[in-house]
Amino acid sequence: MQPKNMIEVKNISRDLPLGGRNLHVLQGISFTVIKGEWVALTGPSGSGKSTLLGILAGIDRPTSGSVILDGYEINNLPEAHLSCMRNEMIGIVFQAFNLIPTMTAIENVEAPLYIHPHWREAEHLATEMLEQVGLKDRMHHMPYQLSGGEQQRVAIARALVTSPHVLLADEPTGNLDSATTRQVLQILQYLRMKLNLTIVMVTHDPTVAAYADRQLHVMDGRIVEVPQKANPTKEDSRVSA
Ligand SMILES: Nc1ncnc2c1ncn2[C@@H]1O[C@H](COP(=O)(O)OP(=O)(O)OP(=O)(O)O)[C@@H](O)[C@H]1O
Ligand SMILES: [Mg+2]
Repeated sequence: MQPKNMIEVKNISRDLPLGGRNLHVLQGISFTVIKGEWVALTGPSGSGKSTLLGILAGIDRPTSGSVILDGYEINNLPEAHLSCMRNEMIGIVFQAFNLIPTMTAIENVEAPLYIHPHWREAEHLATEMLEQVGLKDRMHHMPYQLSGGEQQRVAIARALVTSPHVLLADEPTGNLDSATTRQVLQILQYLRMKLNLTIVMVTHDPTVAAYADRQLHVMDGRIVEVPQKANPTKEDSRVSA
């Protein structure tokens, strides 16, 4: 069977105004990610990785070109339609976890369901997701009572509780030590298989990028594909949390 294209990026550019002139942050980027694939976006600081991820998430819009998500062109959708689509199709994880500090772990995970068709099942779905990331015993803790790795696992549970097709992650392990990084990546590997997720993950760390099937290297707003070596981490898809 022909693999299904989950994300198609066609010749996108993004100009940003800077001091009276235009900065050409992204310059003609095209690539395709198939359903179930895990792609790492690597590249030097300032090369445009977060800008690109923001456009894939529908948080930002390209200056030209198009993004097609599961067959739907998203960049010309009106804002209300776009935010519905984002809520149902995309989960996002950031480097700084971005949990709501006044809410417990389970309340943070339930939050995206308050504006979702599955809102009636919020408590049940959030509990199930927190169990999947190994945090059954931490559900009623506040973010400040959790370690960095635990907070990021709550953030992953929150991103996936709506059963999105796509997970976008911007330096998800950037604030974690190497042992915790490995644990979070193993959880992502496990969930990716279980939920047939498509993942696009920004990282500057080659050991983190090695968890992906493929690397796309961003340089000066353009993409260079890195030839892939055999990936020993592929076999390791169980959670050891
Ligand atoms: N709102 C903005 N206005 C003007 N320029 C911006 C804006 N946001 C980003 N830029 C510029 O766009 C370029 C790309 O930024 P971006 O955040 O996408 O880089 P990055 O690859 O994610 O970098 P890092 O690895 O440091 O996170 C940078 O030169 C940055 O200064
Ligand atoms: Mg960035």
